[in-house]
Amino acid sequence: MSVHTDDTSPPSTPAAGTPATGTPAAGTPAHAAPPAAPATAPTASVAPNRAAAIPAVEVTGVSRIFPGKKGATVTALDNVSMTVAPGEFVSLIGPSGCGKSTLMRLIADLDSPTMGSITVFGKPARQARIDQDYGIAFQQAGLLPWRTVAGNIELPLELHGAGKAARRARVAELIELVGLSDFAGHYPDQLSGGMQQRVAIARSLAESPSLLLMDEPFGALDEMTRERMQNELVRICGETGAAVVFVTHSIPEAVFLSDRVVVMSPRPGRIRDVLSVKLGDTGERGENLREDEQFFHAVSQVRELLHGTPAGGAGPGGAGGTSAGGPRGVDIR
Ligand SMILES: Nc1ncnc2c1ncn2[C@@H]1O[C@H](COP(=O)(O)OP(=O)(O)OP(=O)(O)O)[C@@H](O)[C@H]1O
Ligand SMILES: [Mg+2]
Repeated sequence: MSVHTDDTSPPSTPAAGTPATGTPAAGTPAHAAPPAAPATAPTASVAPNRAAAIPAVEVTGVSRIFPGKKGATVTALDNVSMTVAPGEFVSLIGPSGCGKSTLMRLIADLDSPTMGSITVFGKPARQARIDQDYGIAFQQAGLLPWRTVAGNIELPLELHGAGKAARRARVAELIELVGLSDFAGHYPDQLSGGMQQRVAIARSLAESPSLLLMDEPFGALDEMTRERMQNELVRICGETGAAVVFVTHSIPEAVFLSDRVVVMSPRPGRIRDVLSVKLGDTGERGENLREDEQFFHAVSQVRELLHGTPAGGAGPGGAGGTSAGGPRGVDIR
């Protein structure tokens, strides 16, 4: 391992899991209607009554084409448009390789679209990254191995010049939140994968960002911890009014957490459908929701959309988008 003399310097290009921290966006108005998208690309927009000034995220006609072998290309995303309102929780779900992580990386400005544009709180994605308008928790925890649990969680606060006492208090709160109070002084290599991931989640929340970008953040957690973290995330979102873009392979997780679920099709990644699943206000979604009839109904709807069969009409709150045929093979947990 190389020796780092400046352990608070962010990398020039943030890696997955690198903390970006929150400059609270003005208020939490909802968003403007997205530009018209071609009929073949359902646009994930929010209900009109949430319409207002500046979307948390606006993705417009985005394609990402990677160079492949022998001059071939891989179209990871094809003409994707979606809008996330401030305070809205949107999940992306779709088969492995359909471009979910690619889309998250583009929103976080860890990569650039081949075509189309992305804005975050009305700014180009690059500016939002520079301004650290969002928190990130990705598949890989991305912790700094030479910093303790507390030191990793503290990092974004340090970078933004928070005072020592304020940092200590916030770190203690976050460590408690993710259930790692006994491990504050441990180093990442002394933790399990799930514990490392909880540190990364705590770090992403450090500055109560107005936008959280989460790519399978709970994938490495055991089922009980996972449900607890889901409950906590719902609570945190209710309290902070943060918008969330959340990638998952778990349909129940997407339904439990989301205002809307964006269903993506296999490569080239496109938005196949958008389902409004909002089952109660974000902060009010309780444990009993998991046993609710509406919950099971929404889970079936998303499953049907993933498999390319009709969703049987609008779900709770109404579906946005159309169903289309498509291949199977989705990882449904
Ligand atoms: N840097 C890259 N260079 C070339 N191809 C890439 C690159 N990044 C992603 N791809 C390709 O783009 C496609 C989408 O990848 P992506 O990681 O976004 O999928 P995903 O939906 O997140 O999958 P998973 O559910 O397995 O995480 C895949 O075919 C992948 O091989
Ligand atoms: Mg991925």
